[in-house]
Amino acid sequence: MDMVEGRTVDYLRVSVTERCNFRCQYCMPEKPFSWVPKENLLSFEELFLFMKVAIDEGVNKIRITGGEPLLREGLDTFIKMIHDYKPDIDLALTTNAYLLPQTAQKLKDAGLKRLNISLDSLKPEVAHQIAQKDVLDQVLKGIDKALEVGLGVKINMVPLKGINDNEILDIIDYCQERNIKVRFIEYMENAHASKTIEGMHGREILEKVKERYTIKALGREGASPSFNYVLDDGYEFGLIDPHKHDFCENCNRIRLTAEGNLIPCLYFDEAMSIAESVKKGDIQGAADVLAQVLKDKPKENRWSEDNPNEEDISTRAFYETGG
Ligand code: GTP
Ligand code: 5AD
Ligand code: SF4
Repeated sequence: MDMVEGRTVDYLRVSVTERCNFRCQYCMPEKPFSWVPKENLLSFEELFLFMKVAIDEGVNKIRITGGEPLLREGLDTFIKMIHDYKPDIDLALTTNAYLLPQTAQKLKDAGLKRLNISLDSLKPEVAHQIAQKDVLDQVLKGIDKALEVGLGVKINMVPLKGINDNEILDIIDYCQERNIKVRFIEYMENAHASKTIEGMHGREILEKVKERYTIKALGREGASPSFNYVLDDGYEFGLIDPHKHDFCENCNRIRLTAEGNLIPCLYFDEAMSIAESVKKGDIQGAADVLAQVLKDKPKENRWSEDNPNEEDISTRAFYETGG
């Protein structure tokens, strides 16, 4: 694999569970054949030991992911541990929002700053079709609750042909009314997704927006995978288009799974485990694995711009890495 040395990595994504209460067709259409046994999960203390090493090495942004992270018990205590260690860290969580009505306040009180929430449809039957569960009402209540308690909110939508591709403008309306940002994400082909779905190319997503608006390209915010656009009325939205690879060279993130695998790139299966080090309380060992993973960070993903063939389909499960 081609590597880029010396790239600054300041963003750590930590998946606290691969389990999920949804079965989104682009992520986990079937319950996996087996879950990671509970005893293989790192405890919050073990995860935190590594996170402190990463923070001390310069990580200033931490995002908690899953599966669905709110399924893991005691998450608010974990968030408080991170917040208390470095109160000014950009501390965020990615969620499907289903459990937010009862957890948003606790998360806010623990020190969480921001939430990115998946919202793929505003039609109950379409949301049901994608998540394979009747979720919309509870998701919308979750978003309202997050806004009410004062958490920052962004929305992620994955447009799929023939399923929710006619809702792109409706999702813009919904987000604009609430003054929150939406990012449209190109579906990333992966071996775990439903075989029946087809994503939309970034260009096709923009065409849909242009049916109603004139749009202007703004560019990327730092190392973010999201390319921003502004509508003629001033509303800003983002497009995450990994098929282009052009954000890879600035990629500033690494991912840690719930069982302690440190992953240099979302696309590739390569990983190194920190489990043994943190279980022994070996800080130097954890720092050595971190240094090696940073060195091994690939230059770019291999999602293809053209019709994907077999080798362009990542075998990495998004529910394990948290997207
Ligand atoms: P902020 O910019 O902090 O709001 O968050 P984010 O965009 O990093 O987090 P979020 O979990 O909302 O990510 C949105 C989606 O973008 C992810 O779930 C992935 O689908 C995609 N994404 C994020 N990082 C990468 C990356 O490094 N490579 C690729 N290919 N996609 C990514
Ligand atoms: N392609 C694009 N985005 C995906 N996500 C999950 N799986 C995929 C995929 N195959 C996104 C979800 C969620 C975030 C965690 O990852 O929309 O917002
Ligand atoms: Fe669960 Fe998120 Fe995957 Fe949907 S995308 S199945 S909500 S982890």
